[in-house]
Amino acid sequence: MEFSLVSGAPQGIQTPCLVAPVFQDAEPGGELLQLDRASRGRISALIETGDLPGRRGQTDVLRGLPGIKAERLLLVGMGKRGDFDESRYRQATTEAMKRLMGMAVKAAASCLPGLEVGGRPPAWRIQVAAQIAEECAYRYTETVKPKNGIPQLERLAFATGRVRQTGPLDAALEHARIISAGQALTRRLGDLPPNICTPAFLAEEARKLAKRHPHVEVEILERKQLEEMGAGALMGVARGGANEPRLIVFKYRGGSEDDRPQVLVGKGVTFDSGGISLKPGPAMDEMKYDMCGGATVFGVMESVGHWKPGINVVGIVPAVENMPDGNSYRPGDILTSLSGQTIEILNTDAEGRLILCDALTYAERFKPAAVIDIATLTGACVIALGRHASGLMTPHDDFAEELLAAGEESFDRAWRLPLWVDYQQQLDSNFADMANVGGKEAGAITAGCFLWRFAKDYRWAHLDIAGTAWLTGKEKGATGRPVPLLVQYLMDRAG
Ligand code: BES
Ligand code: MN
Ligand code: ZN
Repeated sequence: MEFSLVSGAPQGIQTPCLVAPVFQDAEPGGELLQLDRASRGRISALIETGDLPGRRGQTDVLRGLPGIKAERLLLVGMGKRGDFDESRYRQATTEAMKRLMGMAVKAAASCLPGLEVGGRPPAWRIQVAAQIAEECAYRYTETVKPKNGIPQLERLAFATGRVRQTGPLDAALEHARIISAGQALTRRLGDLPPNICTPAFLAEEARKLAKRHPHVEVEILERKQLEEMGAGALMGVARGGANEPRLIVFKYRGGSEDDRPQVLVGKGVTFDSGGISLKPGPAMDEMKYDMCGGATVFGVMESVGHWKPGINVVGIVPAVENMPDGNSYRPGDILTSLSGQTIEILNTDAEGRLILCDALTYAERFKPAAVIDIATLTGACVIALGRHASGLMTPHDDFAEELLAAGEESFDRAWRLPLWVDYQQQLDSNFADMANVGGKEAGAITAGCFLWRFAKDYRWAHLDIAGTAWLTGKEKGATGRPVPLLVQYLMDRAG
C-alpha cells in the first residue's frame, strides 16, 4: 500500500473514501464539525435521529454528501470522548480499516490521526494508523482464497490537520513501511501449514530473503554439520522428525566490521507434536505456530533489509520438527548440549529450550552487544499474561527497561517476570547438570532459568511469545508480534 500525507480542510479532500470519527454523546467537533458545516448540518441531523454510529467499533458509510469533495464518508464510532485513549484509538482505527479493506475503493484518506491521543505526537498517531492499515490488508493466500476477499485499496492518505513540520510525519510513514514489511513476512510464515513450512522450506525462504536484500547474508547449517559441531540438544529434538533440521544464520552488516552485533535467536519448531510426551489432540494443529519466534527473526531481518541501519544484526533460527518416532529422543535420555552441559530429558515436549540453548551457545561466536531470544516457549506464559503481553525475562534491569519501553512505544507490549536464582533449583537433576523441565510451578520462569544457564557470557533477554504470536478462534492466525517491539528496539539503538 502507498501512504501519503494530505493537508487542508477535510471537506476539500478529493478521495473515493474519507474516514472520519464520530464520538458517542457529543456534539460534532474537530474534523466532523467541519464536515457537518460543509454539508449544511447533514451529519448532525443524522446523529440526532440516532442513525450514525458512535458506539465503539461501529462503522457506517454515507455517499454523496453535499459540500464534501469525498465520494464516500466512512464514519467510525469512537465511543465516549472521555474514555478515549491509545487502545481505543487503535481499536477504532482497526475497525475502520477492516471496513475499508472490504470496500471496492482503490484510494482513501483518513482523518483519524488528527485526533488527540493522550499526548502522543502526530507522528506516533500516523505511524500507528499506517501499521494498522497494513495489518488489516494482510491476507493468507497460499492455500485458500481469502473468505473476506482481497483488499482493493492501493493508496491511503492521512489528513495531518494543522502541523508545522511534515518531516517527522514522513519518517513515521517510513517506519510503518519498514515494520509492516517484516510483520507481514512473519505472519505468512507462521500461517503456512507444517507440511509446507518445514526446516528446509525455512532455509530456502532465508536464501530468498538474502537475495532480496544485498546487505543480508545467510548461512545454513545442515544435519551433518550440526552433529559434528556437537549441537546435541538440538539434534536430540530433531531425531524424531522425518524433515531434517537446519540452523539458519542471517548476518546484516550496516556497521563497521568490529561493531558488536545485536543478535536475535528465534525458536523454529515447524511442528510441535510433543514428541514421545505426545500432546493431547485438541488444538494440536496450532503447534504449526511453534516456529513464530523464528519467523519473527525473519521478519526483523526483512525490516532491517528495507531500513538499512548503520548497525550490525545477526539472526539465528534453529529449525526442527518435534515428532514421535522409533528414533525419537525419550524421557530419561541425557543429551550433551553444544556448551558441554548435560541435560536430563523429563519431558520431550519441553523441546524449545533444547534447540534454543544450542543456538544461544552458537551466538557467542558473534561477540554480541546483546542477545534476545524469542520463543513460543510455554503454555504457562499464556496462563500468566494472556494474549496481550509477551513475557520478558532478563537478569539485566537496564535491558528490561529498554525492551519494555520499545514495547510501549510500538504498542507491542511485554511484561517482565522475575528470573531469581531461587527458581533454579527446580531444574536440579540427579543424573545431569540440569533437567529440561522444572515442574508445574512457575513454568514460564523455569524455562527462562534454563535458557539463562546458556546465556552467561553476554547481555541477554528472553521473550516468551506463546500468548502473543497468534490468535485462536475465529481470528486464528499469526499476529507478526513481536516484530514491532524488536524493530523499535533496534531503531532506538541505531538512533
Ligand atoms: N510450544 C510449546 C508451548 C506452547 C504451548 C505454546 C501452548 C503455545 C501454546 C512448548 O514446546 C511446550 O510444549 N511447552 C510445555 C512445557 C512443559 C512440558 C514443561 C508446556 O508449556 O506445556
Ligand atoms: Mn513442546
Ligand atoms: Zn514447542
